[in-house]
Amino acid sequence: MAFRPVPTPFTHRQLQICTNQRAPETGKPSCGRHGGVELRERLKRAVKEGGKRGAVQVIGTSCLGVCPAEGVMVGLLPDHAWGVVGPDEEAALLAVLLNPEAPVGAGLSLPPPEP
Ligand code: FES
Repeated sequence: MAFRPVPTPFTHRQLQICTNQRAPETGKPSCGRHGGVELRERLKRAVKEGGKRGAVQVIGTSCLGVCPAEGVMVGLLPDHAWGVVGPDEEAALLAVLLNPEAPVGAGLSLPPPEP
């Protein structure tokens, strides 16, 4: 086995939110400049207020390798779903986080990864 499995308290899902900050002079987009930190804080608070703190983990990450020009790149595990979240997607993403039975496709358009 490539690693030793360990139990975690997060029985539902983990949401990884890119909060990477690049200096504007790099000329490259970065999710941190498009609201990644604020998105992470809003969703962490909403998960806690929704009573899912022990089941859902919302974390900030460095660059997830996509670097969208608009919005924030996220990854959802164990769904293995990746996508860009802007103001239009945030409510649907929260609904998925708060409902263990919700498939990612329920109101949320997170495209599968490219093969
Ligand atoms: S800066 Fe967010 S995916 Fe690269």
